[in-house]
Formats: sequence, C-alpha cells, structure tokens
Amino acid sequence: MTMGRLHASVPAEGLTGEELAAVRGDFPLLSRTVREGRPLVYLDSGATSQKPRVVLDAEREFYERHNAAVHRGAHQLAEEATEAFEGARETVARFLGAQSGEIVFTKNGTEGLNLLAYAFSNAAAPGALDGAPQEWADRLRLGPGDEVVVTEMEHHANLVPWQEVCRRTGATLRWIGVTDDGYLTDPAEVIGERTKVVSVTHVSNVLGTLVDLEPVVAAARAAGALVFVDACQSAPHLDISALTAPDSGVDALVFTGHKTLGPSGIGVLWARRGLLEAMPPFLTGGSMIEIVRMEGSTWAPPPQKFEAGVPMAAQAVGLAAALDYLTELGLDRVHAHDQALMRHTLQVLAERPWVQVIGPAEPADRVGAVSFTVEGVHPHDVGQILDDSGIAVRTGHHCAWPLHRRLRLAATTRASFGVYTTPEEIDAFATALDRVPDVFGVAG
Ligand code: ALA
Repeated sequence: MTMGRLHASVPAEGLTGEELAAVRGDFPLLSRTVREGRPLVYLDSGATSQKPRVVLDAEREFYERHNAAVHRGAHQLAEEATEAFEGARETVARFLGAQSGEIVFTKNGTEGLNLLAYAFSNAAAPGALDGAPQEWADRLRLGPGDEVVVTEMEHHANLVPWQEVCRRTGATLRWIGVTDDGYLTDPAEVIGERTKVVSVTHVSNVLGTLVDLEPVVAAARAAGALVFVDACQSAPHLDISALTAPDSGVDALVFTGHKTLGPSGIGVLWARRGLLEAMPPFLTGGSMIEIVRMEGSTWAPPPQKFEAGVPMAAQAVGLAAALDYLTELGLDRVHAHDQALMRHTLQVLAERPWVQVIGPAEPADRVGAVSFTVEGVHPHDVGQILDDSGIAVRTGHHCAWPLHRRLRLAATTRASFGVYTTPEEIDAFATALDRVPDVFGVAG
C-alpha cells in the first residue's frame, strides 16, 4: 500500500536499547509489580498511555506555584496561570504545525468529535450562522438529502455523534466498508455529490490499520465535503502535522491527551480558522462570550468560543510537557520504534497458528495495536490468563462494535504499544499466551 503526502514515510531507525531503557526510567509506574510481584507488562496503551515524570512534574508545578483560574482575576497568579495555559496551546500548535488560534482544548477526543458534530445540529437553530463566513456556513447546513460518511472501523466516538446529527437534521449516515484483511473499501463508492461531511479515523484502535487518507480526501474534495480525522490512535505514534498543512484537504482533527503520554481530562481539536469562526458553540456559559445581556449574548472569537467555563489548565500544561517529550525523542523515531514492535509482535503471533490476528498483515500499514482471537477461547479468558502473568491487555469490542460485527467476532484481545514498550515485553506476552491452549484444552 502506498502512503501519500499525508503520511510521513517510515524512517529507518527506531530507539536504541539504551534509549529505550532511559525512556522506561522516565515512567515511574512501569517499575511497579502486579499480581504478587510479577513485573508489569503494560500492553494497553491504546486505551490509555502511562505518563512520564515530566508530565507529572509539570502538573504538580502548576498546582504548587501558579494555580489560579485562567482568563480571570486581576492578580499575578491569574496572569501566570493564563500564560501557562496559552503557552500550552502554542506547544500543541507547534506539535501540529498549526496556528495557536486554531487549537481548541477539549476534555478528550470524544468531546472534540461531539463539538464538531453538534456544530451541525446547532447550525439549524435560527440565527446560529449569522455573521459566519459564508463559504463555511453553507457547509454546516445539513438536511434531508445530505449525507455524512464515516467508516465501518470507527470507534463509537466517531460514529454515535454522527448518528445523532443525522437523526436531528434528517441527513443520511453512510459508511465506507472494511475488507476482510482490515483495509477500507474504495471511498469513492460511498462519497459522492450528496456528501457534506466525511469523518474518518487515522488509525483503527482495533485493527491498527493506518488509513490511507489520500483517496478519502480526494473523493471528499471532489464532492466539496468537509473532512474530519480522528487522530487519537495516531498522535501518540507518528508525526501528524501533514494533516494540518494548508493543502492537506483535512478541515479538522482531534486527538486526546491521555493516550499521548499526557493527563486525562484534556484533548485537542484543531480546525481551520474559517470553520471555527462559522461553527456555533458547543457548550455555552462563562469565558466563551463577548457580550451578555438578559435578552441574549454574543460569542468571543475562537478558540475561546469553544472553551466555556474554567479550563483545564494543569492538564493542558501536562499535555504540553508530553508533546515536548515526544518531540524531543523525534516523532519519526517514535514511529520507527512502533514499527519494530509491530513487526516483532506479528512475527511471534504468526509462530502460534492457534492465534488469529485481525487487521493488515503488512506491518507498515499498521500502528500501535494488534488484536487477535484464540480459537475456542473467549477473549476475556485470554485476558485473564495474561493478567495472571502480569500482562495488561484490553479485551472486548474496544468501543468498535460494528467493526467486530463486520468481522463476525463478538470480541477480541488487544495488545497495544507505547513508546516505552520493549521487544522483551512482547516476548513475555507471547510466553504467557502459550499457557492459553493448555489451560483451556484447545489445540496449541
Ligand atoms: N478508545 C480507547 C481504546 O481503544 C479507550 O481502548
């Protein structure tokens, strides 16, 4: 599969053993033991990542030295807190190769996607698009006959909000299918002249598929549709800044802090400035207003228009430290490290014919996660055997129920990596997995 300009090419060199040991030393939690003294092997970073000390320190430092309500208060602490928060926004903008005025802080990826989706529901209210730039405002009006396109591999967070938008506006939800080997079917078969929005994941949280966005964007552009990308599973592992380039064809993306070595309770929405200016607000209240009278209110310019209430300043500062940490390691090398882990994991699982891996067989087409089944054994039981050996994985439908239905699976077991995951941990995982056939009396 060829990845075009929207993907950085996979570099040659990952992290050396020495660098990896140093990285692991930066994550206090990784040195703990679980289940009666077994070393922890944390293979659940796709659910949430562990946090390096610089992130914990940044949050603590904020609370110990600068804590105050951002954008409020006439005192020094309020100024310092505001500076720290806005500085974090600049760091996020640098990470994405974007402008800070295009960065909205959200609670997580789910909230970012809801913020986008609600803009279409709210756009239908009288006066909601007054004063909005015309070229963007027209694109926010959805109604019967219009189509919203997602894919069958979406996390529920990038599916359910669009189902709701369609229910409210009368638009129709359509989806790009998934092949048996975990790729998207041809987007041009689904995206057409009725399509107004295409919202697609960058990396599947189950299949690990690195979606080739080029044909999706090409079809969406031809249709004049907006393109949104869920980058929650790609941001921790690779350079996603190409998505925000002026000619990328992507109009907005979201990612979440807690999967990207940062704190929970903080996420990011990046969107083109004109779109942010046109979109009606999601949450309303303090901080997001320009003028408030009893009869009605007007909104502050973006990004404040989308940040009602006292914002998560400590979490934003922690996220900035996490992104700086990744940037210092080098996103290209972080990606190469993930690739090395991916190749190794697919190989050790291929040596076990009683394991069925789902998703692309080609490691270069995958990022971060490997989901699998063991014939005759429920994934929850597999997870429990692994947990007994100190191996933390996720089991279930991973918030991607339609994808599992498409693959005729009730559930899978998923091993997912972080920048701190080692090849030796993959070996420990494989060795622990070898107990499964014995314990359940299935062919091993
Ligand atoms: N979305 C997270 C996962 O895939 C929770 O596990």
